[in-house]
Formats: sequence, C-alpha cells, structure tokens
Amino acid sequence: MSELILGIETSCDETAAAVILDGCRILSNVVASQAEMHAKFGGVFPEVASREHVLKIIPVIDEAMNAAQVSWNDLRAIAVTHGPGLAGSLLVGVNAAKGIALGKSLPLLGTNHLEGHIYANWLDAGLPYVRPEMENVFPLVALIASGGHSSLVLMRGHGEYMELGHTIDDAAGEAFDKIARLLHLGYPGGPAIQRAAEQGDASAFKLPRAQTKRAYDFSFSGLKTAVLNLTKKLDAENLPVNDIAASAQQAIVDMLVEKTHLAVEEYDAKYVLLAGGVAANKLLRQEMSARASRPVIFPPPKLCVDNGAMIAAAAFRHYRAGQSSAWDLDVVPNLKLA
Ligand code: KG4
Ligand code: ZN
Repeated sequence: MSELILGIETSCDETAAAVILDGCRILSNVVASQAEMHAKFGGVFPEVASREHVLKIIPVIDEAMNAAQVSWNDLRAIAVTHGPGLAGSLLVGVNAAKGIALGKSLPLLGTNHLEGHIYANWLDAGLPYVRPEMENVFPLVALIASGGHSSLVLMRGHGEYMELGHTIDDAAGEAFDKIARLLHLGYPGGPAIQRAAEQGDASAFKLPRAQTKRAYDFSFSGLKTAVLNLTKKLDAENLPVNDIAASAQQAIVDMLVEKTHLAVEEYDAKYVLLAGGVAANKLLRQEMSARASRPVIFPPPKLCVDNGAMIAAAAFRHYRAGQSSAWDLDVVPNLKLA
C-alpha cells in the first residue's frame, strides 16, 4: 500500500491542506490560521473567514503538495470537509476540491468534519498509548468537544457512531471562548484560559456544574452566566482573572470528565477517545486519564485543532471501502455524524 490522499479543510477559520499516506502517515500538514484577524471581533466573523479562505486556499494546497514532495499524479483521491461548519467557508474548500478532482480525474471524498476530529487519533503522530493500527480499540466512548460541537459518541467499530448525548446550549469550546471574552483574554479562548489558569487557583470560586435531564447531555451556558455575574460583582479594576479562569476551566473539565466516565461504565467501553479543539486542553487530558478507569487516547495538541490531515485520515477509510462523492456534492452546515 502506498496511497496518498490530499485533505482540505475550510469549515471555520483555518485554511488547511495535508497529504497523508495510507490514512495515517503525515507527509505534510499546512494550516493558515485566521485567529489574529478574528481576535478583534472576539470570535469568528463569517464573511471575513470565507474571504480569507478564498485568498489562502490555493497557496495552502500548493504548499502542502510541495512540502510532501509529491505530484498530482501520485494522489489517489481528494478529500474535503463539506460539513458541519460555516456555509461560506465550507464552499471555498469544496469548490477547490471539486476543481482539482475534476481536473486531475481523481475521486472526490466529501468528509464529515467531526469524523475528521475522531480520526485525528489514527494519525501516526496521534498514538500516545495504542500501536499501531488501533483496530482493537472498540467499543470506545468518544468525547467530541470543539468550538461548534460537544457530544458523547459510542463507537462499536470504524464509522459506527451512536450519539449518547450532546450539548443543549453552548459547545465546550464556545464556553471557553465566551468566558475568555468576559475576562478580556482574547480569542481563541481555550488556550488563553489554559494559560491564565496555570497562574490561578481552581478552588478560588465555586462555579456551577450543570445537571441535565438526559444523563449524557452537556450544558455550559449557566457557567458562562455565573462567570458574567461574578465579574459584575467583583472590582473590575482588580479582577482575579487567573483564579476565575482556573475555576471555570475546572468546572468545564469536571462536567466533561464526569459524563464521559459515566458512559464508559454503562457501555463497558475499552477506551476513551478525545477529539476536537478542546481535547488539546492539558487539564482535560490529565483529569480524563486520572479519572476515567480506561486508557484515554488523544491526538497531539496540533492535531486536535482543525487541520487537513484529520480530514484525509477520515476519508481514507471511505476511499478503501470504494466510496466517493458525486460532483454535485454540496456543503451541509449542520451535517451530523452518520
Ligand atoms: O476543533 P476546533 O479547532 O474548531 C472547531 O471545529 O470548532 O476547536 C476550536 C475550539 C475553540 O473554541 C478553542 O477555544 C478550543 O477549541 N481550544 C481549547 C484549547 N485549544 C483550543 N480549549 C481549551 N483548551 C485548549 N488548550
Ligand atoms: Zn473542528
């Protein structure tokens, strides 16, 4: 086997492309982040994002091909995120992928962004505990936590997803981002909160851990409101930002770990798998490993956040199963895991 796939990702605010060998080996992985551009808005500004993707997509793909030292003829397929995500952003990647696939007579693989986050764990660099094909990891409970999505999913095999629960309001990453904004820590909020929390005391403030009607659902909006009320109550000039950040981070991590742990026990999962930008969080990785009673798998931080490698990794299994997308492949902003 030596099958190369080009993976393209433009669902949010990263323009990304990667060349992956046999679904796991990273030959190149180029990510052009727009974070700085969106920082002044405190979050992703959709029109700015799609315009930036238009400017960056061809240079990023060229760079990925050059860095991998491969030619178009070496590729077997073009994979691209077609949902979920921002419609205007997804369109740029999907159209670039269609153009290349059509022009080079290659199959097109429309790929689910969330499946991409999950399969970042099968990339070579993403195997902290399990070697090497990760075929014997099922059943596993996957915690998908990103800026736009938070859910618990039971996987009994490759591509088999049963959603156990999801957030009923904000996503976990969104909670990090919104709380960071309240504390004037900038965007993206997750890494900023993590940094501030390192200097703070997580027991300084008692913040709520929301209960939900369904055992495996999440809720983070109450926490955000509690932080807002706290900032109003305290002296704005001398806000204990680090202590609030540490207390809020602890609350989010506690909620994520507790529900995941519950699901692991009920479904007798062999592994816990972390996916999505929030999986980069140090405290989450530590506490999940310490409290989850099963081995925890997570990608290196760089592969937790949006990238093209994870899209090619997810697409590889569909390619091997002989699947491909039709030329009328469309973007699906609210695409679910099948
Ligand atoms: O997966 P991702 O790159 O994009 C989406 O698909 O949404 O996730 C981005 C989210 C942001 O909300 C960001 O604040 C969060 O992941 N994030 C983190 C960390 N790094 C990124 N949250 C907590 N701790 C981190 N170290
Ligand atoms: Zn993502």
